[in-house]
Parts: sequence; structure tokens; C-alpha cells
Amino acid sequence: MSKPRVLSGVQPTGNLHLGNYLGAIRNWVGLQDSHACLFMLADLHAITVPQNPADLRRNTRETAAAYIACGIDPKKSAIFPQSAVTMHSELAWILNCHTPLGWLNRMTQFKEKSGKNKENAPLGLYAYPVLMAADILGYHATHVPVGEDQKQHLELARDIAGAFNRAYGEEFFPLPEPLILPTAARIMSLRDGSKKMSKSDPSDYSRITLTDDADAIAKKIRKATSDSTPGVTYEPATRPEIANLLTIYAALTDRTPQAVAEEFKSEQTSNFKSKLAEIAVEKLSPITANMRELMNDYSMLDALLKEGAERARAIATPIFTQARQRVGFLQV
Ligand code: AQP
Repeated sequence: MSKPRVLSGVQPTGNLHLGNYLGAIRNWVGLQDSHACLFMLADLHAITVPQNPADLRRNTRETAAAYIACGIDPKKSAIFPQSAVTMHSELAWILNCHTPLGWLNRMTQFKEKSGKNKENAPLGLYAYPVLMAADILGYHATHVPVGEDQKQHLELARDIAGAFNRAYGEEFFPLPEPLILPTAARIMSLRDGSKKMSKSDPSDYSRITLTDDADAIAKKIRKATSDSTPGVTYEPATRPEIANLLTIYAALTDRTPQAVAEEFKSEQTSNFKSKLAEIAVEKLSPITANMRELMNDYSMLDALLKEGAERARAIATPIFTQARQRVGFLQV
């Protein structure tokens, strides 16, 4: 029996952070033996907001280096830039033509990301979930590790698959299932416990990045917003910032936030923060060092990405050819 196929990716928009690591990349590592994995560098998604071309190139390589440094094995999993496999954009166009506007109008991420400036938001930002559907369906991927924030888009991908299947009278695209990984943690901003840690937050102190050195990590944790309640307790509703720090500690040490809170319940917040900084440095510094080493050899990285793209194309091409035939495009 063939292994279930999984697809996921991160946008190479720089500032890769602890949330991307604990909420996504780290959790892919364990899937590599039980699943056939494709991990893209989502550069087509990245350009839905303006990017500096030189930065995009660098960040694409850096994100690939982060995947590998976190434990994604390029021999087991295909790692590739999304734009290198043209199927993504081509299938997205076909799926655009099968997606009612009403479905896209319901997407909350567009509303959040376009803000008050909807009239000037690019069409690509609006059509983003259709591209995501193409990413998944174009490989007949059956499982998609998703965070809470992407669940609505995955639901839409299922609806679009259904619309295509109904239009051409057969179950061509399998309906992808969310893969909820119990180890995936949702990490919040270090400045505001109600906002998720994000690459685009203007404050560098809101996130710990995978390229931060030990001093930067310690400083950011020391300065992380906390509250004036004495002691360390896990109460997400009333003490979101401390709860977030406990979640980070727990995720880094494979424990529950409640167990960590129990250990530190009679400690001062500052002591807890020092211990957290120590743990974060211990866990992240080997990844940072490994990334730096990989980033010193662009030709090796590019060769790995080329190989990953070839593997991805080999899966996508026959599927996309059949999709084209169903639509009625001539094969000339
Ligand atoms: N704070 C987070 N906690 C847990 N998981 C997170 N992810 C992102 N932020 C957190 C997960 O990382 C994966 C890749 O995300 P992405 O790069 O495709 O885009 P994003 O979700 O929009 O990430 P950011 O950091 O918030 O970027 P910006 O600021 O550019 O929007 C996804 O699996 C996501 O769930």
C-alpha cells in the first residue's frame, strides 16, 4: 500500500520564528516515515504581499535551510520552491474558474490581512485560498497538517475539489483531510498574548527567530510582557502572557504547560523567564548553527531544491495532465 501523501509549507517571508517551528516545521519531522511528504517553500503565496526580490531569494534558501536544520530529510521528503513547479499556478487558474466568489468572500484571513484597505488589496491575496487548494489537490495529497488559522482554507479546498469533481462527473480529486498534530503548539506574540507570534509583526521583540543568538533570545524573553500577579500559574484566560511562556517551555521540553506551571508555582516570574531562556537557547542554538552552515553553501542548497522540485514535478505532472484533459484542453 502506498503511503498517504502530505503537503505543507511555510512562506519564505523572513523572520522565521519559534511559532513556525513549534506550530509547524518541528511536527513534520515525525511524519516522514509514515507518509510521503512534500514540503514546499511557499514563494507564490509570499508575493501576495510586496517582497523585495533579493530578500525573497535569500529567505527562500533560508527557509529551506531551516527545514533541514529542524530535521526534514531531503532524501525522504521533497523540499522545493513552490514556483519551481508550474502546476501550482496553472491548476490554480483552472480552480479559480470553479470557485464561486461567495466562497472566497467568507474567508476571514483575507478580511484580516486586507484590513481597511480592501480596494487596494491585490487580487492574489483574495485568491490565495484557491492557490492553496491547487497546492494540495495537484498532488492528490490526502493529508494536510494545518494550524487553527488554516482550517477554513482547507475546508474551502475540499469544497473546490467537490465542485471540480461534480463538474466532470467523477471523483478525480480526493478530499483532503486535516492532520491535527497533537504536538503542534500555538505560540503568541511576546508583546501581546492575544496576537499570534508572526513574521510580519513590526516589533522584533514580539518573536524569537531561528536566527537569534543566545543574547537576543535571553533579552527578548526577559523583556516579554508579563503581569503583576505573583507566581507562575497556567491561566490562559486571565494570564495570557504567562500562559504563552509556559506553552513555549512545555513545547520545547515535550511536557504540558500545566506540569511546567506546577514546577515553577512558587518561583518569581523573573526566575522562570531565566530558566526558559536557558532552555530556548539550548534547543534552538543547534538549529541556528546548522542553518548558518547550510546558508554558507548556496550551490549545495540549490541542488537539493532542484532535486526536490524534480520529485514534486514527477508526481504533479500526470495528475495535472489528467485535470487538463477533463477540462477539455487540447494536448498539443
Ligand atoms: N504563532 C504561531 N504559532 C504556531 N504556529 C504558527 N504558524 C505561524 N505562526 C504560528 C504556522 O507556521 C506555518 C507557516 O506559516 P506561513 O509562513 O505560511 O504563514 P503564517 O501562518 O501567516 O505565518 P506568520 O508568521 O504569521 O507570517 P505573516 O506574519 O507573514 O502572516 C503554518 O502552518 C502556520 O500555522
